[in-house]
Amino acid sequence: MKNANIVLIGDGAIGSSYAFNCLTAGIGKSLGIIDVNKQRVQGDVEDLADALPYVSQKNIYAASYEDCEYADLIVITAGVAQKPGETRLQLLQKNAAIIKDITANIMQHHFDGIILVASNPVDVLTELVLRLTGLPKNRVLGSGTALDSARMRSEIGRRYNVDVRAVHGYIMGEHGDSEFPVWDYTTIGGQPIREFVKGPRLESDLAAVSDRVKNAAYSIIEKKGATFYGIAASLTRLTAAILNDDRAAFAMSVHLDGEYGLSGVAIGVPVLLGSNGLARIIQLDLNDQDLARLQASAKVLKENLESVL
Ligand code: 2OP
Repeated sequence: MKNANIVLIGDGAIGSSYAFNCLTAGIGKSLGIIDVNKQRVQGDVEDLADALPYVSQKNIYAASYEDCEYADLIVITAGVAQKPGETRLQLLQKNAAIIKDITANIMQHHFDGIILVASNPVDVLTELVLRLTGLPKNRVLGSGTALDSARMRSEIGRRYNVDVRAVHGYIMGEHGDSEFPVWDYTTIGGQPIREFVKGPRLESDLAAVSDRVKNAAYSIIEKKGATFYGIAASLTRLTAAILNDDRAAFAMSVHLDGEYGLSGVAIGVPVLLGSNGLARIIQLDLNDQDLARLQASAKVLKENLESVL
């Protein structure tokens, strides 16, 4: 799938940053962009085309939903973004209406590829897209807590002066206020973090990391009005994993059918990602506290999903 045709739906700050990142990373053969603001799309297409001579050859074009029939991957970033202090769940009613319109348009054109959802609240909207499209559950995924996990790894790297590539671990649950870090499975250089970092400050340090990750978007939005580079880079990495069939591990929002004792909900769990989308759900042996946190997070997501079905 290296020469994939990608269609991006949503050309706001996140979509536009993702498009540019795909260009500079040389990902995909073509990138079609759909947005209700057609003039903005045309401007972005022309602007991105100006970069091609210095980055990579790709067919960048203003797409329509007919182009979804030939797409291998659709990335959905459309929707309103959080305002300062606003939670992602508070965007649900507005963005669910937008997602319903988008999925109806996609499925009019017999799309049978993979859909990657980033619009917030991403977990609820991922499950909504899955149910509305009727696509197999391995082919509708949300960015989930992939970005949160990257934020956690970066924060651990900074705090303990370690290359972020040596830090492995996951944030699980809602991409939002009920997310949580799985410290039992967080390692630095392969050593469990609680062995790597000894001393009385460990638990307070880990609590500080968890808070900083959970509140990262709020902090950035307060300062610059929106987040877009972190999520765009996450989406680009997830796209590459799909196109290259990496079977790489990420925490993503996927539909559960009994895994972790949960069903009927899409929520952030560790998965392997490849050319058919979800290749495997990784079932960690969570301690009682973390399993309870995951189940509480799933309960919040299910309650919100019910309000838009
Ligand atoms: C974030 O956390 C946009 O929800 C995304 O930055």
